[in-house]
Amino acid sequence: MTEKTLFIVKPDAVARNLVGKIISRFERKGFKILKLKMFTFTQEQAEKFYDVHKDKPFFGELTSFITSGPVVATIIEGNNAIATTRIMIGATKSFEAEPGSIRGDFGLGLSDNIIHASDSQESFDHESRVAFE
Ligand code: CMP
Repeated sequence: MTEKTLFIVKPDAVARNLVGKIISRFERKGFKILKLKMFTFTQEQAEKFYDVHKDKPFFGELTSFITSGPVVATIIEGNNAIATTRIMIGATKSFEAEPGSIRGDFGLGLSDNIIHASDSQESFDHESRVAFE
């Protein structure tokens, strides 16, 4: 089923010049890029984007990291986009992510875990609205 999803190349990956390498994996997989935007999250936008985590102990660390530098937000389209993208990015803790996944291949961090991707249709609707507002 053709679906859309959103992923964000996080500040650590942008700073390490990994944008092209990461986006090319999605192109190679067969996804079509519909939207692409480089910007820096404001604090307000970050709090809205990660609203679902607002009661978590790491919320402050999370918003402080995501606002720390430019990100690249992308909306892609293709078969089973939401679940397939989550498989491609790998486990949240980069140091535990499978080699072959994006986090598994490029990082070791947790806040600085290279990439974010929507985990459901609802989060895609919310996150794409905030990132492309
Ligand atoms: P992401 O996919 O962007 O979704 C929420 C983010 O919170 C997650 O990636 C991590 O970067 C971050 N995160 C999750 N758990 C923790 C934690 N225990 N400490 C710090 N950051 C966390």
